[in-house]
Amino acid sequence: MTSIDQTKSWKALQAHSKKASEISIDQLFQKNAERSHELTINISNGIIDLSKNLVTKETIQLLKELISETNFAGRRQAMFDGLRINTTEDRAVLHSALRTPKTETLTFEGTEIISEIHSVLQRMSNVSEEIRTGSFKGSGGKAINTIVNIGIGGSDLGPAMAQKALQHYSSKELTNYFVSNVDPTAIAEILEVCDPETTLFIVASKTFTTIETLSNANAAKNWIVQHHGEGSVKDHFLAVSTNQSKVNEFGIASERTFGFWDWVGGRYSLGSAIGLSLMIAIGQTNFDQMLAGMRKIDLHFLNEPIETNIPVLLGLISIWNTNFLGTSSHAILPYSQNLSLFPAYLQQLDMESNGKNRTIDGELIEHQTGPVIWGEPGTNGQHAFFQLLHQGTQIIPTDFIGFCKSQSPVANQQNLLISNMLAQTRALAFGRTHQNPHRTFPGNRPSTTILFDELTPFNLGQLIAIYEHKVFTMGCIWNINSFDQYGVELGKEMATQILPSLESEDDPEYDQSTNSLIQYYKTKNNLKP
Ligand code: F6P
Repeated sequence: MTSIDQTKSWKALQAHSKKASEISIDQLFQKNAERSHELTINISNGIIDLSKNLVTKETIQLLKELISETNFAGRRQAMFDGLRINTTEDRAVLHSALRTPKTETLTFEGTEIISEIHSVLQRMSNVSEEIRTGSFKGSGGKAINTIVNIGIGGSDLGPAMAQKALQHYSSKELTNYFVSNVDPTAIAEILEVCDPETTLFIVASKTFTTIETLSNANAAKNWIVQHHGEGSVKDHFLAVSTNQSKVNEFGIASERTFGFWDWVGGRYSLGSAIGLSLMIAIGQTNFDQMLAGMRKIDLHFLNEPIETNIPVLLGLISIWNTNFLGTSSHAILPYSQNLSLFPAYLQQLDMESNGKNRTIDGELIEHQTGPVIWGEPGTNGQHAFFQLLHQGTQIIPTDFIGFCKSQSPVANQQNLLISNMLAQTRALAFGRTHQNPHRTFPGNRPSTTILFDELTPFNLGQLIAIYEHKVFTMGCIWNINSFDQYGVELGKEMATQILPSLESEDDPEYDQSTNSLIQYYKTKNNLKP
């Protein structure tokens, strides 16, 4: 396939970007009284305002031409049909099936999968209800009231983010923790505050081979066995995995395991059994609502024309910023404390998917691909890094995500919060002239505002799926495989090599820098340097 940067529309966009550098967002608003109206898209329970981006109708038209030069429509259909579009790993990519209603059917390579998906959801619902009603008991006969999810990456970030987001919907009888880091303090600090009589661990790992998760799970297992003795693991552990034999080896039986499928990528797995800890916290009805929100966006993404297709437009504008305006990072700024983990969640979703320098066919890419994703909730970020957003020398596109109603109304603070969000989008776009150069704001800094009515399970589901499909759209344009993650492998392999060197008397034989760091570490741990 011709490299995207050699296409006619790419070159037209390059030429167009020169014109864009001669006009400002402010001027675009002045020239068109209908701009905000034309660039705001309605969504169920919300709106998405694209008008504070440095785009015109012509930009969108050229971006539409760009996407039509790719196989986007074919790849999108192939994803929903369950074809093996993750060719580098020879896997299908079918997370959309996880949110398909049980009244529908879908055959994946000869097997009807919607009924399978719903039978796992039903088992998840059963155990959630047992726990939520206090009938799930630990070894000592006491009701479980503390859930610890042990997992990392996609087996942690999704459920942790969503549980924080939906804490208003969570059972007040249950306490939830997440342990991901292999740093021993992470698990130790959780065990310190848990009661072995009433704690249930969910070991969440697609592969059940991830060293961090297994180390933490083993620490938890030893803690339970020390307290209750051998044989108690079955009462205090559930597993979520695609690898039943490894789960069994660890000591968790099949009836305590919630499976999912090879075609669910880690960072796309919240709607699968990986969401078990979330379902326990918020209950099945709310979990179903989240799936319904995702489904709503799946259908929108599949059927809506490009002009009104939210994930596609967000992807196209991000391509415009990245490849034609030269930006290299993208800030996610939720004006919602409960969405505080959303930037971290999107870091994995976006950067693990599109942080690649090869096309799906292995060709080296010469233009920029996935931007650095980062962010913090407002208003906290305003008192930390917003200085650079407003007056720094690099332009950083931003997504502001806000809600009309708060989950916890306290006096007028929601109005204060949203007035801050709107003020920031205005200051970034329009800036300010001032006689004192230090108090001058250049403006012309692009942002998108996503404004939902409320942070409900349904709207959270919509938000997640919007970003999933945005990332997919960008991957299609760059012709990269957004579904593998070979870039995380080398570091893992090297860690496996280095571990014995930290414990051995032999001199390490790596590069000079690593050798001396190892020697310093060993000295401090009273091991022979
Ligand atoms: O970081 C690499 C990765 O494979 C992620 O893609 C995945 O979400 C995470 O590790 C955890 O993997 P697992 O669920 O198999 O433990």
